[in-house]
Amino acid sequence: MITFENVTKVYHDTVYAVRDISLVIEKGSLCFIVGPSGAGKTTLLKLVYGLERPSEGTVSVFGSDLSRIPRSRLQAIRRHTGFVFQDYRLVEDWTVYQNAAIPLEILGKSPLYVRSRVWRMLKWIGLTHKVYERARNLSGGERQRLALVRAIIHDPDIVLADEPVGGQDETTARYLMNVFYKLHRKGTTIVIASHRSDPLMDHARIVRMEHGRILE
Ligand SMILES: Nc1ncnc2c1ncn2[C@@H]1O[C@H](COP(=O)(O)OP(=O)(O)OP(=O)(O)O)[C@@H](O)[C@H]1O
Ligand SMILES: [Mg+2]
Repeated sequence: MITFENVTKVYHDTVYAVRDISLVIEKGSLCFIVGPSGAGKTTLLKLVYGLERPSEGTVSVFGSDLSRIPRSRLQAIRRHTGFVFQDYRLVEDWTVYQNAAIPLEILGKSPLYVRSRVWRMLKWIGLTHKVYERARNLSGGERQRLALVRAIIHDPDIVLADEPVGGQDETTARYLMNVFYKLHRKGTTIVIASHRSDPLMDHARIVRMEHGRILE
């Protein structure tokens, strides 16, 4: 499903964020990328989403080498992938509702479906009381929950989540991690980058990174 073959990513010709990584993430797996700050976790996820291109090596998703496919095919892959960004990347001037609805609108879902799905997801994540609030007025934890809703609302095949519970209290963090576990049980491929260990890791594959490399 996701394959890295001897992938290196260098920023500005000098910063080796990812060094010669080879990794296969199987369809339906739950995989944690764990490592200290600066290890290259975010870079690894961005490579899967085609937001960064490898300096060397190949990254393939659904069997397609991301460096060799046309833009339209990359967009098709992204439509089947959800990304919870470490810095959320919400549209600040849009409401909670608008931010949550966008993946469904891109997929051309009917307004009736969009409406019911958005309300259901916001209810489930505890954000209905903020539905018409602008994203910029939300607390850190609320923004993170909205980012999670936006990443999974269209039921993607792959979910990439970058520190998805960092801003949450313990109870909410456990609740959100359980969301990932349920998605995994349903067959979604999940890749979570994290500094901290999580009880869920007992059920998951753990890939440890340091200085851009995978540790054995
Ligand atoms: N756009 C960029 N331009 C230049 N250097 C970058 C860029 N993005 C990341 N880096 C550098 O690449 C290295 C890996 O960064 P990355 O964000 O992938 O690490 P990380 O494991 O996600 O860290 P954290 O746990 O702090 O989020 C770091 O040295 C970082 O400074
Ligand atoms: Mg990071």
